Amino acid sequence: MKVAVSGKGGVGKTLIAGGLARGFVERGLKTMAIDADSSPNLGLTLGLSTEETRKIVPISENKQLVESKTSTGYSGVYNLNFTVDDIVKQYSVATPLGVNLIVMGTVQSMGAGCMCAPNAVIRALLRHLVVERDEAVVLDLEAGVEHIGRGTARQVDALLIVADSNLKSLEIAKHIHDMAQAAGMKQLYLVGNRVMNDTQKKAIQSFADKNGLTLLAFVPFDQKVIEADMLGETPLKNKDIAAVKTIDNICELLLKKTA
Ligand SMILES: Nc1ncnc2c1ncn2[C@@H]1O[C@H](COP(=O)(O)OP(=O)(O)OP(=O)(O)O)[C@@H](O)[C@H]1O
Ligand SMILES: [Mg+2]
Repeated sequence: MKVAVSGKGGVGKTLIAGGLARGFVERGLKTMAIDADSSPNLGLTLGLSTEETRKIVPISENKQLVESKTSTGYSGVYNLNFTVDDIVKQYSVATPLGVNLIVMGTVQSMGAGCMCAPNAVIRALLRHLVVERDEAVVLDLEAGVEHIGRGTARQVDALLIVADSNLKSLEIAKHIHDMAQAAGMKQLYLVGNRVMNDTQKKAIQSFADKNGLTLLAFVPFDQKVIEADMLGETPLKNKDIAAVKTIDNICELLLKKTA
């Protein structure tokens, strides 16, 4: 099970990515969560403290590691034939929710293009995690459309596109959907998040219907999510939170759809 979570900034990607990762762990799957956002905070959602989250050096910013993998001794010439399984062992962090976390840092152009050393390491690592290893992977993508349909993100089993009832977030969802579809991705699902009432449900549903998006689920707005975030606690520990329960149900749906 390899799933990527995308959408406009602030729509709830990290909450949903974290919730899915925890859900996979609870269903007995060894799970790696990948924070591919340039402002990484998935660690907090997976139950790490702010101090622990701050201490994690993103792979792309770990100069020593990147250098040790790619250096040939000649300036401007990179070694592109290196191992990455050791990076997973050494740099993934165990979180209180049982999910292993790896923080990638900024991923410029996950497809072809920039061949600079940090990107070469990240691309190889993503490929290894998404294509070669068989544990479950949840990829929390950077906001927007930049990374969709290119490189490794394209190879996931399912792409979740998160939006709320705001038309701007739905427009971005459509853009992501269309790009992913053009790239040949098959399992694309819209998730309506922070839904407060039937009017918002209808707005999301009718946008999906008009634009050929498949709606997978509505995640309700829940004040307890905001309160937990305010206190620096993960909302995911509290199963009484309606939003958390719904995200857990999405795990079940995804496992069935990609079986
Ligand atoms: N279902 C929900 N109910 C209430 N609040 C929510 C819900 N989902 C997300 N939030 C709140 O919305 C804010 C943004 O959520 P989150 O960080 O998951 O979004 P994001 O898409 O990952 O943002 P970014 O683009 O900045 O990475 C957070 O304060 C979170 O607590
Ligand atoms: Mg986020």
